[in-house]
Amino acid sequence: MTEAAAPCILVFDSGVGGLSVARCIHETLPGAELVYLADNAGFPYGDQPEAVVIERCTTLIRKALEEIPCDVVVVACNTASTVVLPRLRSLIDVPVVGVVPAIKPAASRTANRRIGVLATPATVRRPYLDRLIDEFAGDCQVVRIGHPALVCWAEQLVRGIPVPEAELREVLAPLKQAGVDTVVLGCTHYPLLLDALKTVLPEIRHWVDSGDAIARRVQFLLGEASRDPQAITHAKRSEPVRAVLLSGEVPHGLAGFMAALGLTAIRIEERWGGLTDPVRVTGSA
Ligand code: DGL
Repeated sequence: MTEAAAPCILVFDSGVGGLSVARCIHETLPGAELVYLADNAGFPYGDQPEAVVIERCTTLIRKALEEIPCDVVVVACNTASTVVLPRLRSLIDVPVVGVVPAIKPAASRTANRRIGVLATPATVRRPYLDRLIDEFAGDCQVVRIGHPALVCWAEQLVRGIPVPEAELREVLAPLKQAGVDTVVLGCTHYPLLLDALKTVLPEIRHWVDSGDAIARRVQFLLGEASRDPQAITHAKRSEPVRAVLLSGEVPHGLAGFMAALGLTAIRIEERWGGLTDPVRVTGSA
């Protein structure tokens, strides 16, 4: 099997958070090519109205697929996935994998039935999360935190700016007070903060995110599409990311940050897709 036959997976997020998912996909499917698409001109999605998120994400993903045909699209953003999946699936032929907060696995792991959910301000408010909690964690005490600073701290890591520990401690205080033993990372940016999170809350027994489950789902879909499993899981690429397409500017340090995650990119393009910054409507996300 030659490299030309490798499948291509489009991973989308509002910023660098989807890289936590891309890393899991690459670890599971090292022979696959990745295209990383980020609407960083629209970041953060956690502050945007639903209609803006749906419009921007469908526009960018369709454009990207026109330029680089892919086998699977991964919406590696909880905030977008909670609102965009039906519309996106109606617009494109490629299978779409979304990401939702990992409430079900968290409920199966917690010993004391107390779970923390860290997500964006929009995700913690969405009925989608209420339904997940009712369905899978109805017997648990669930403490939700949707603080807007967390995604920004994750973005700053790219520029080498460390997470402000004292502020993080303050943000996470309700989890400590409630004595949760399991925390759901309900935003794809948060696995990038894991070292700092563990430092601040060393007593947490399980940090649960959705990256590996998404990678397995992608593997399954590629298998269904009869792609050669050997070519996907064995042939390792030294530059697995064929293209990084950003609607905004390239953050300083991005190439090195990606390489440290094992996601070396062949090319990085900024101001891609022709979308300008959205008008912000505070409080109506
Ligand atoms: N990484 C995204 C998520 O999983 C969202 C970050 C944002 O733009 O607010 O929700």
